[in-house]
Amino acid sequence: MSKTVIMDHPLVQHKVSLLRNKNTGTKEFKELVSELAMLLCYEATRDLPTEEVEIETPIAVAKTHMLSGRKVALVPILRAGLGMVDGMLALIPAAKVGHIGMYRNEETLEPVEYYCKLPADIAEREVIVLDPMLATGGSACDAITQIKKRGVKNIKFIGIIGAPEGLKRLQELHPDVDIYMAALDERLNENGYIVPGLGDAGDRIFGTK
Ligand code: PRP
Ligand code: URA
Repeated sequence: MSKTVIMDHPLVQHKVSLLRNKNTGTKEFKELVSELAMLLCYEATRDLPTEEVEIETPIAVAKTHMLSGRKVALVPILRAGLGMVDGMLALIPAAKVGHIGMYRNEETLEPVEYYCKLPADIAEREVIVLDPMLATGGSACDAITQIKKRGVKNIKFIGIIGAPEGLKRLQELHPDVDIYMAALDERLNENGYIVPGLGDAGDRIFGTK
């Protein structure tokens, strides 16, 4: 049974508020996205398997635990998902990184895929899909469908802000995928933007507006 976690933590809520502020500039925005990715990564990796190992400390031999088993692949959805990669890699430096390029057709709001490069051994990895915005859910759902076509069985989605419409679509189309987000907002507006949201995540990360 998959789960949806909206991370109700004071640090997360504080950073999301700063992110939403239209006066937050590109440098700070980028830093906040990275920090939120790190905090969400901490929660999303809570169930990674560990194994007992023996380590010699300067004082004695300690029986302790280290990560074992399946390795991780991160798949940011371009462009905005790129902003989350550094924060994730700070905690999981050995993860491989694939990329899926998607943009939304501004009229139909349907995602258009323009790039896909995934690690060759992705089927053996636990995959974490990254995109700060889950609006209609089209981009995340299509990206996950592409990843499943490569035989991947274990997929998680990490976003920052979601709309109820996108969350429902992702839960219905990919019921096996665990979802971690920092906030679930009210709705989408007539242009498919999340309300209140934070505006266009890609433009704010890369300073293109
Ligand atoms: C944004 C965002 C998601 C998508 C979410 O990307 O980063 O990928 O929209 O919308 P959806 O849930 O309705 O599919 P956008 O298409 O603006 O491209 P960009 O990241 O290149 O700016
Ligand atoms: N993509 C964004 O960047 N922001 C939204 O509110 C919706 C889609």
